[in-house]
Amino acid sequence: MCGIIGYCGQKAAVPVVLEALKCLEYRGYDSAGVASLCDGQLLIRKDAGKVEEVIQKHKLADLPGHVAIGHTRWATHGGVTQFNAHPHADCSGRLAVVHNGIIENSQELRQELTRRGHRFASETDTEVIPHLLEDELKNGHSLEQAALNTAAKLEGSYAFVVVSLDDPGKIIGTRRGNPLIVGLNGRDRYVSSDALAFSQYTNEVMGLEDNEVVVLTEGGAEFLDAQGNKLVKQARKLDQSWAESDKGAYQHFMLKEIMEQAQVLGRIANQDKQQFTEIALDILRARQVIITACGTSRYAALVGRYLFSRVGKKFCDVVMASEFGYFADSVDKNTVVIAVSQSGETADVVEGVKAARAVGAQVISIVNRPNSILTDLSHQVIYLNCGSEIAVAATKSFLSQLAIFYLLSFAMVNSFDQAAARLAELSGEVSKTLDWNKSELIKLSEKLKDKNDAYYIARGINFAIASEAALKLKEISYVHAEGMPAGELKHGTLALIEPGTPVVVICPDDYTFAETLSNAIETKSRGAYIIGVSDRESEVYDSWIKIPKVDELLYPMVAVVPLQLLAYYVAINRGCDPDRPRNLAKSVTVK
Ligand code: G6P
Repeated sequence: MCGIIGYCGQKAAVPVVLEALKCLEYRGYDSAGVASLCDGQLLIRKDAGKVEEVIQKHKLADLPGHVAIGHTRWATHGGVTQFNAHPHADCSGRLAVVHNGIIENSQELRQELTRRGHRFASETDTEVIPHLLEDELKNGHSLEQAALNTAAKLEGSYAFVVVSLDDPGKIIGTRRGNPLIVGLNGRDRYVSSDALAFSQYTNEVMGLEDNEVVVLTEGGAEFLDAQGNKLVKQARKLDQSWAESDKGAYQHFMLKEIMEQAQVLGRIANQDKQQFTEIALDILRARQVIITACGTSRYAALVGRYLFSRVGKKFCDVVMASEFGYFADSVDKNTVVIAVSQSGETADVVEGVKAARAVGAQVISIVNRPNSILTDLSHQVIYLNCGSEIAVAATKSFLSQLAIFYLLSFAMVNSFDQAAARLAELSGEVSKTLDWNKSELIKLSEKLKDKNDAYYIARGINFAIASEAALKLKEISYVHAEGMPAGELKHGTLALIEPGTPVVVICPDDYTFAETLSNAIETKSRGAYIIGVSDRESEVYDSWIKIPKVDELLYPMVAVVPLQLLAYYVAINRGCDPDRPRNLAKSVTVK
């Protein structure tokens, strides 16, 4: 993962880079650093720690210069140390590189470079890049030619940006498999993993395809293909609603994103009916349909599988993206692969989609980020349109994914309009759920904050909600949590129930109520503390999270929202940062 930024222009460069790093922190936040060119010097400051900590510790804002690059890291190769933080320099200290991705042949390159006398200062795969560039520059190549020649030697995925004292007005960037986008504003030039990083200055952007190189100077942006030929590109406008990344009055992005879900749902029904109808037909006609996704998106896919079967009478399978390759033998041109990814850049999902395309499968992606790697690889794209989601733990994008699957399944039976109307109405029910439960959830989070384990159970369409709610709790509060079908509990997990163990029971007043409650009673008999999530009260519950009565297929959307909020409050009570959970990142661009 990792976020990279480069700036050259008329402003003081480092403050621009630092603001950008704060926006990019969702991509990784274990270390940060900057490199600035000023008066014949290359100044590099970096350290382990969150962006703000590194800024304060090293007084980064004081660094001068009009050309600078920066990096926020999620460690892959090499521990979380100052040495491993980016930027990385060559032996001479005359050039600096920031990189996102994984260089798969870094070991071989490192050995070869070491044999040639290069000295390495870190354990990272990235550091081969500045040393390779150094050799290219010594051979008399320009910085852009050096970048082209270096990129040709790299295997794996990368987006990297370089500055050099030998060409001090320039920033060179290139990519393969990882995102890199250029921003232009007057004579100012930006290059970053995400346009969010510079959206406060400009919405005029230019994309970079795999293997292309960009040469930025104050007032200039030149694009080259892999052979060094000049390319003509048009700038385009970025959708500003996407770029919005302000917490507003909320303490955390996660809380803001949970709270705005009612509005998101109100907007979601504005989808293209024609597109949904065509995709629904493709799904119905396909010999087989496979949905592939990771993390939260996979739980949305599991709800989707249920909806496809229940509404569209179409069975499909959900394959975890990291396992997709192992099922590749049965994918063919009569297969529809639906890739679900908020970011559109999760490496496992991207790899699965590439494999599916290679054998002729039709690929439909459901993504949030516009112009992501996945959208470029797909035959059809459905956008979530829920705006940028910053908190690592997905919330509003999950609700939007559920809504998309709901619309798709009803499009299969020619009932798109009715489904869209029901979703618009549901917006009020989501608000109501949040209002009803907020203070109860704060109290409940107090009770849960010292627990080591929690179990979430449900049946049918809500089983995936149990899993998603458990994921929310563990990723941001570090409490071990498991979600499972209620009927499965007695086949093992029941052995773990002790007096006081929290068991969250999602049991809406539908055809699953009696059986799910009966499973809850089995745990209560062993001392479990029962948290009922239901529109129907029961004396079995020790705490009741009340949800409104809605259509049976809409319960997942009202049940998940208070459970997201519960996870948030537990994290706060445990002193955890819900926006930046340890060891995790929002965009996982490595396999
Ligand atoms: C990471 C994030 C999760 C997310 C998953 C899939 O693990 O921390 O929140 O659900 O990636 O991300 P995607 O962008 O593909 O939906």
